[in-house]
Amino acid sequence: TVVAGVVGRPVTHSLSPLIHNAWLAAAGIDGVYVPFTPDAFGFDRLVSGFRGGAIRGLNVTIPFKEAALAACDEATTLARRAGAANVLVFDQNGKVLADNTDGQGLLGAFAVQAPGWDVRNGPVTVIGAGGAARGAVAALLEAGAPKVWLLNRTLAKADAIARDLGPKVAPLPLSHGASAMQQTTAVINATSAGLAGAGELQVPLDLTHESTVVMDMVYKPLETPFLAQARSLGRPTVDGLEMLIQQAIPSFQHFFGQAPPTGVDARALALEAL
Ligand code: ATR
Repeated sequence: TVVAGVVGRPVTHSLSPLIHNAWLAAAGIDGVYVPFTPDAFGFDRLVSGFRGGAIRGLNVTIPFKEAALAACDEATTLARRAGAANVLVFDQNGKVLADNTDGQGLLGAFAVQAPGWDVRNGPVTVIGAGGAARGAVAALLEAGAPKVWLLNRTLAKADAIARDLGPKVAPLPLSHGASAMQQTTAVINATSAGLAGAGELQVPLDLTHESTVVMDMVYKPLETPFLAQARSLGRPTVDGLEMLIQQAIPSFQHFFGQAPPTGVDARALALEAL
């Protein structure tokens, strides 16, 4: 039996076990995907305990993605540039390999829900400067974005990401986003502001071109106030649930050595559980 899992805190509401176990069953793979919740200091102990291959791999979610990168022996360029890993693979020789598939999730979600959009066609705007935003900027640049406007309430945090990821990243205070809105092909909310209970995000989406795609990485609620604003303006939208599903595809490939089977409606399963 091949074992993989997800580690986070909290992890009980993670949709990943549902998605991966449905894929395993449909593919007829002798495998299981389980949730782990170490305490704040238990993450490193969990990883060292799994060295040697008792478990094939882990998805890593909040708040352990940076710790996952620090705990690995080898990391992909994308994981290093993102400053975080959401996949750890345990090889037979005791090594821990890290990757970050969140960027593939982000771009995969655009490919499914906004298929006409091309990252290479013009500047893209990311809002936020936490770990999620850093990963998104790294992935957009790797995919060929010519420029990324990085808007954040606290400018110093956007400046730090721009210093790390290079001159195509243009940091701006959130309150000075008007010119970015007019030129951008997509606006991606990578702040925690869409989460139920968090403050609302003030962004002049009405200044964007009518074809500008608006995306929110938050999927609880599925329609955040930010996406609702975009929809009321008639903008095409991409949601965080599709990103979650799309990042799971390369994760499954890492753990079980094959693509997920077709014929499972992962989105319908996830929507039922939301
Ligand atoms: P994560 O690791 O998930 O990206 P984080 O590091 O806590 O989370 O970052 C949260 C991001 O959401 C930050 O960019 C934060 O802005 P500040 O850097 O100014 O704190 C942003 N954020 C949270 N609530 C917000 C709000 N109501 N308006 C604007 N930005 C908000």
